[in-house]
Amino acid sequence: MIRKGGRCRAALSLTTTALLTATAFTALSTGAEAADTLGSAAAGKGRYFGTAVAANHLGEAPYVSALNTEFTSVTPENEMKWDAVERTRGTFTYGSADQIVNHALGRGMKVRGHTLVWHSQLPSWVAGLGTADLRSAMNNHITQVMQHWKGKIHSWDVVNEAFQDGGSGARRSSPFQDKLGNGFIEEAFRTARAADPAAKLCYNDYNTDGVNAKSNAVYNMVKDFKSRGVPIDCVGFQSHFNSASPVPSDYQANLQRFADLGVDVQITELDIEGSGTAQANSYANVVRACLAVSRCTGITVWGITDKYSWRASGTPLLLDSNYNKKPAYDAVLTALGGSPGGGTPGAGCTATYSKAEEWGDRFNGRVTVTAGSSAISTWSVTVTVASPQTVATTWNGTPSWNGNVMTMRPNGNGSLAPGASTSFGFTVMKNGSTAAPVVGACTAS
Ligand code: XIL
Repeated sequence: MIRKGGRCRAALSLTTTALLTATAFTALSTGAEAADTLGSAAAGKGRYFGTAVAANHLGEAPYVSALNTEFTSVTPENEMKWDAVERTRGTFTYGSADQIVNHALGRGMKVRGHTLVWHSQLPSWVAGLGTADLRSAMNNHITQVMQHWKGKIHSWDVVNEAFQDGGSGARRSSPFQDKLGNGFIEEAFRTARAADPAAKLCYNDYNTDGVNAKSNAVYNMVKDFKSRGVPIDCVGFQSHFNSASPVPSDYQANLQRFADLGVDVQITELDIEGSGTAQANSYANVVRACLAVSRCTGITVWGITDKYSWRASGTPLLLDSNYNKKPAYDAVLTALGGSPGGGTPGAGCTATYSKAEEWGDRFNGRVTVTAGSSAISTWSVTVTVASPQTVATTWNGTPSWNGNVMTMRPNGNGSLAPGASTSFGFTVMKNGSTAAPVVGACTAS
């Protein structure tokens, strides 16, 4: 009994710490019984589960519901690329990427930065520069962009796709390679470290997922960087698979040999063309490989729904174009140790807590209830305050009580259109504790 109580208290105080350091968090449900999510199951294994996000879909309710429900990390799909942030030399535009970053950070998700130095989606003015000018443009680009999001980006793809496909192990021709030579990668990483020392700095590439000539070349570069103290923290494996380029049988071994060099490994752009059981099995193999490598810190899929995949015709993602979970979704969730529940992620409602006004003896809390991808006719949310706190007053809802657990229901009509929100509030008397209340699952019907 005593041990059990002790464990319970430890778990509670961990939760409290997490709440105090977060600005807001979301409690989720797809109905009366909440299924596990990709993000929560991955968190149980100490990993993040992310997705590429496009800013222009953030107005689509089921897109946002699935994003908020399932994922704990985001990568802007195109919005941080050179042609998006510095289309004209020296003029930086961050608006679309900021939309994604703010959405993610406001909900406690991590952000991967993608990408600083890449031959593609590169404005033509860069290719037109002479050597000295190109060097300063590259370093300025890295510095400006990283400083804009300083402290907000978990990992940056500093250099993307610098090696050639095939057996040569050579560098790919690009303005950077052709004018600055092999040293451009090292220079980019050193500049990046100075710009945001807290961000993990990754090299990211594709067709490097198994042991082959291209991954050997990247391996040798990382090994050299580690031996000479060039700052590199992680290697990203894009992991774009299809029948011509299936998940390699030595995928896990390849991740492990990089991890053994002393870097983290991340699966950064996972998508697998196909359908049904075959696709599901391939996805499960990727997840199991990552979980088997302790330095594999997270998995990002390259989009939420087949509807918006860059390879939509290959239906390579976990949700179909109507946002329904595919067999691949269930396989990933199961491989992560979660229990699948079917349906559409976030179809019910979500509840997000934020702290409002605060005084010496009390503070106001606000919970925003947002309908998912379907209309709902009513909702309920539990709010638990930590004893000796008490709730002095509430507004915009009808509370009922069970000890220190308040169940809030709507005042009168609780119907919400898909994606629509309402909020309720309450005043917590601190009685010596500033702990944030714990908001339970939002239940809709
Ligand atoms: C892709 C995006 O998904 C598309 O929307 C865009 O048109 C082209 O780029 N490797 C990468 C990603 O590192 O940035 C690419 O993303 C896919 C391949």
